[in-house]
Amino acid sequence: MGGEELTDTPRFGRRKVGGAPPVMADLHTHLIPGVDDGAPDLESALEALQALFNDGVRAVAATPHLNASNLNGNRRALADEAWPQLVAAARERFTTLKLYRGYEIQLDTPEIDLSDADLRLAGSRYALVEFYAFTVPERSAEVLARIVADGYVPIVVHPERYWGYDRGYRIVGEWRTAGALMQLNSGSLLGEYGENVRLVAHRFLAEGRVDIIASDNHGRPQRNPSLGAVWDYMAARGLEEQARLLLAVNPQRILRDEPTLSVGRVDSARGLLARLGRRLKRGT
Ligand SMILES: [Fe+2]
Repeated sequence: MGGEELTDTPRFGRRKVGGAPPVMADLHTHLIPGVDDGAPDLESALEALQALFNDGVRAVAATPHLNASNLNGNRRALADEAWPQLVAAARERFTTLKLYRGYEIQLDTPEIDLSDADLRLAGSRYALVEFYAFTVPERSAEVLARIVADGYVPIVVHPERYWGYDRGYRIVGEWRTAGALMQLNSGSLLGEYGENVRLVAHRFLAEGRVDIIASDNHGRPQRNPSLGAVWDYMAARGLEEQARLLLAVNPQRILRDEPTLSVGRVDSARGLLARLGRRLKRGT
């Protein structure tokens, strides 16, 4: 599917806070029906796409789970089979929604060959990766550096959900130095994974360690990983510029295989860190 710039303004009835919401691109979803633990059927996938569309998302990457140790396993055949059906149904329902493909690749082996473009986001240099069992393995920075040396850019998905960090989260700095990007889950910022994850998500954001925010939507209506809610949340705190980079500009640049822009540290001079800290303590 095409990869031109997204310029149309979304129209929807959601409450608007701050400026107009950007045209967002969601690069991490599990919406190819019946392939992994994501959308169980086509109807669930379309419902999830409708929710994203209502948020103002106009580009969605479907990224089923895949293990680095089994890159050519049955799951890829399942995804290939179900994909045309999803595209056809989505095209009928959403004339301005673009769908792309990729995978969320679990690095269950230190050696990974990403030379097959289908493994990467929309065939770009970028690939979604995660470590095994939400833990930070030894030599994680080396594994990421090796991927970068091969000419690709690993995007570590939901780093805020990992266990076993060093006290200062220094390893995340090492991942970034190695050339990896970080993707925060929208639900993490909003507390869907609990207070600890929310705290870490805010910390990474405040420290400028996040490059994109995505939904990790699994097509399950009981969870609502809304990107629109994150836009509202950040816009209400004067963070439109960062939200635009995280939800729209950088994801779109990735789809076009362009370098991402630095989001930078959140302006602590305005007391945002302190405000976030107070809010977290109050649990609001
Ligand atoms: Fe995921």
